[in-house]
Amino acid sequence: MQRKTKTLGEFIIENQAEFKYSSGELSKLINAIRLAAKVVNHEVNKAGLVDILGAAGDTNVQGENQQKLDVLANEKFIQTLKNREIVCGIASEEEDDFISINSQDKQHQNKYVVLIDPLDGSSNIDVNVSVGTIFSIYRRVTDIGSPVTLEDFLQPGIRQVAAGYIIYGTSTMLVYTTGHGVNGFTLNPAIGTFYLSHPDMKFPETGKIYSINEGNYIHFPQGVKDYIKYCQMEEGDRPYTSRYIGSLVSDVHRNMIKGGIYIYPKSSLNSDGKLRLLYECNPMAFLAEQAGGKASDGYGRIMEIHPTELHQRVPFFCGSPKMVEQAESFMAKYA
Ligand code: AHG
Ligand code: MN
Ligand code: MN
Repeated sequence: MQRKTKTLGEFIIENQAEFKYSSGELSKLINAIRLAAKVVNHEVNKAGLVDILGAAGDTNVQGENQQKLDVLANEKFIQTLKNREIVCGIASEEEDDFISINSQDKQHQNKYVVLIDPLDGSSNIDVNVSVGTIFSIYRRVTDIGSPVTLEDFLQPGIRQVAAGYIIYGTSTMLVYTTGHGVNGFTLNPAIGTFYLSHPDMKFPETGKIYSINEGNYIHFPQGVKDYIKYCQMEEGDRPYTSRYIGSLVSDVHRNMIKGGIYIYPKSSLNSDGKLRLLYECNPMAFLAEQAGGKASDGYGRIMEIHPTELHQRVPFFCGSPKMVEQAESFMAKYA
């Protein structure tokens, strides 16, 4: 007998009961993200066809060149979430400030805020390599009925109620958690439906892949340099294989399936690393932990950091638990 494959829509409805006191708002929010993912997927897929390649000629708050698809993905996600009146606030890599959302009849009644990296790995678009979207969801901490404040966004990762990513790869997948494990859904582009293809995803305890931009080696802290040498040493199951796409989502996705570690350390060039705590590291950390992995800044748990800024950067070590622990032990020698 053929097994019936569950769609993401069915999965969301079935699992709504997992949330105590839930009014269905979070389910509606995940549904809105599912819709936005399909819209952005469509844009990413035709990137080579139409004139949306290349820089938009603008820079974002962090002085980075914005790609046209960065802007487009940002617009699509914000528009979809706004139109559905499902969140009270959004923060995005591409927006200097958070956006407060209100409508006549809702009067700030929604209780969730979303933080997004609308297009991750955007420098890969021009060369047809996988990119992604990352999202993180919190319950607001300020009173319902009032506009959101920065406080609602500056919450430690352990308070996330859901997080996930979309990977626009050889196939498009949506992978997310609501704190009950990690599930991955693959898009059937012919009918625009996501199917549960990767139930209960788990990082292997250890692995053989290390992912780091080794071009920056000279600038890395000694602990990271030592760990890289350890990965390359011929001993036991080593040397490991080096794999670095330069798109956090794709690198972590591969390592979650195959076993591995992703590292973006601090360096003598940038003292806090490159990746952003709130919409890159925290959501990936929540997913990693829910999949039996670990996420650290080299010394401690990412999700326990108390954020002070919307676009705060942090060093990031994420992957198979044994490998992250090993890297942390090298870091500790020079702490
Ligand atoms: P974004 O495209 O959202 O700015 O993120 C890019 C990030 C991350 O996805 C990737 O792992 C990292 O930057 C790559 O940085 P390097 O080119 O410095 O290795
Ligand atoms: Mn990114
Ligand atoms: Mn981005």
